[in-house]
Amino acid sequence: MSGTAHDTASLGVASLGDLAGKRVLVRSDLNVPLDAGTITDDGRIRASAPTITQLAEAGARVVVMAHLGRPDGAPDPAYSLAPVAERLGEVLGRPVAFATDTVGESAQQTVDGLADGDVAVLENVRFNSGETSKDDDVRGSFADQLAQLGDVFVSDGFGVVHRKQASVYDVALRLPSAMGGLVATEIDVLRRLTVDPERPYVVVLGGSKVSDKLGVIDNLLDKADKLLIGGGMVFTFLKAQGHEVGKSLLEDDQLDVCRSYLEQATAKGVEIVLPTDIVVDTAFPSGDRQPEPKVVAADAIPADALGLDIGPDSARAFAAALADARTVFWNGPMGVFEVDVFADGTRAVAEALTKIDGLSVVGGGDSAAAVRTLGFDEAAFGHISTGGGASLEYLEGKELPGIAVLERP
Ligand code: 3PG
Repeated sequence: MSGTAHDTASLGVASLGDLAGKRVLVRSDLNVPLDAGTITDDGRIRASAPTITQLAEAGARVVVMAHLGRPDGAPDPAYSLAPVAERLGEVLGRPVAFATDTVGESAQQTVDGLADGDVAVLENVRFNSGETSKDDDVRGSFADQLAQLGDVFVSDGFGVVHRKQASVYDVALRLPSAMGGLVATEIDVLRRLTVDPERPYVVVLGGSKVSDKLGVIDNLLDKADKLLIGGGMVFTFLKAQGHEVGKSLLEDDQLDVCRSYLEQATAKGVEIVLPTDIVVDTAFPSGDRQPEPKVVAADAIPADALGLDIGPDSARAFAAALADARTVFWNGPMGVFEVDVFADGTRAVAEALTKIDGLSVVGGGDSAAAVRTLGFDEAAFGHISTGGGASLEYLEGKELPGIAVLERP
């Protein structure tokens, strides 16, 4: 279920009763970015820690299941969770055992070796092809093996609840199950964005592709008061308005869709705010090439240029449009924020969100990474989601299998 109210408290860990001495299988989302084995943003590890600590302090023997990246259903050292388990230990401030396989000898021995209050992490569940299989029986047989490592299951990987995968969905069919605190919080916040949000309600969308955001725009055009659009996806909107966009990102097959959104917004009284100026360069930033940013009007992007950020006038206009909002949802950066000269638009939106008198929600993925990379204090935002795809699917009104399975009668 998604988009409707439900009592998350009744689905919480407390519903599992006394956990002392029990083996608790926890699905966390520890899918963090790694650069040559070094974790570059540990936000998801930190967000996962409170539930694991809560379980350990309740005397459970905690067995964490998680994935990293998209390996091919077989062990691949490049996607090992070993560095993640090590970082989790540092964040938890307690030892974390690591099983070098998912359901094999190492997993069995590691789980058998746990004392009450101990924590272990299994190797990347996607090293087993059963994890992501579309075949219910194949997934089910992997879930059977996982379920043998636990007495109860806690679902706390919000970033994967939109995936019908063995460690997210099928394990919940096999063990007494509950929602962890992280998932409960995420669902509560997202519900506040969809059920009777405080107004004005402003949605800011960015990121590279319009096609990734169609469902969410469809759904939010009925709910938001203003829709601010930046990032790579804005060029398809600008083109739909009849402007040339040079070498900027463009999805030709979405032009009609964007035109129809612009028309629908007018009909529904939703204000769509597009940038009026753009920071361009003649090439995408890469390697040693020194960027040569230039601000141009949004309706005068040169043929040899591509847009890499919203311009300063637009950044001010976006901040002004956010100033009186009581509810904000933001997903997707305004530009190539990883490169300082193209980060100002994203920085301006993040800054505006920190001043909201009401609920400000940063959708997961790139926007959450942007907030941290740009050095903002996470506490200044109402909520930073750990799930990019999951929060978008919730806001699209789709059923999330990892939630629905916990709510089944
Ligand atoms: C994410 O990074 O959004 C989650 O961890 C889910 O990963 P996936 O898109 O590979 O399923």
